[in-house]
Amino acid sequence: MKGTHFSACRLALLALITAQYAFGLAHPPIEKRALPVLMGSAATFGAIAASSLSSSGATAITVDCGTCPGTSITGFPPGTASGAKSAGGTIACNAEADCLTAYNNAAGLTPTTALGVSDLGGLTLPPGIYSFPTSWATLSTTLTLNGTADPNGQFIFQITTTYSTSSGSQVLLINGAQACNLYFKIGSSATIISASALQGNYLAYTSITVGEGSSNQGTLCALNGAISLIDNALTAQTSCST
Ligand SMILES: *[C@@H]1O[C@H](CO)[C@@H](O)[C@H](O)[C@H]1NC(C)=O
Repeated sequence: MKGTHFSACRLALLALITAQYAFGLAHPPIEKRALPVLMGSAATFGAIAASSLSSSGATAITVDCGTCPGTSITGFPPGTASGAKSAGGTIACNAEADCLTAYNNAAGLTPTTALGVSDLGGLTLPPGIYSFPTSWATLSTTLTLNGTADPNGQFIFQITTTYSTSSGSQVLLINGAQACNLYFKIGSSATIISASALQGNYLAYTSITVGEGSSNQGTLCALNGAISLIDNALTAQTSCST
């Protein structure tokens, strides 16, 4: 009896160890296991600011936009905002809250790659959680993000202070990379210079200034300050399959 019980126990233990070993082998790498950062209700917004949203010129926002707790949205017209426009309303406040959650989640992740450069221009990167050698980061030319055929692969850039782009800079998505999986966590403010063609979610602790003629497919979130636009095109990101 005792012997049988003992072997049953050993057998069960062996089965458990085998199962855990097999599970361990089948388990995806750490960056894929990390909880995905999600935009929640902010995903349908092109721009959501804490204090004010202002535009000059022919800005065209084809998604939602808003402010919370501020209530100042100016420049439409002459700009057009064809989605919901919420000045301090519930949907704007929910979006702003979801931006804060995304910011905190992105900020809390452990980097998988410490970049050796502060300028993303010229780089081709796979999904990952990236840190920089300086508190700030820039984009001078083209950043290419390679989805490596993984529709759930997220690209998360952890920037301690400012992010700025040069005129004519762009983000290219290749091999299954999706704008909805691209996050810039910006610890102070973002300055997007003219004619930048951007993609993704820009989560700025303070404010976001977008220069003339620049575009973004994704969401601009200013958690404590303003968003100012000039002749910009803000369009929808496809929703991710995560
Ligand atoms: C994209 O990633 C895949 C998988 O790692 C690789 O085979 C391919 O060469 C990469 N493409 C570019 C342009 O870097």
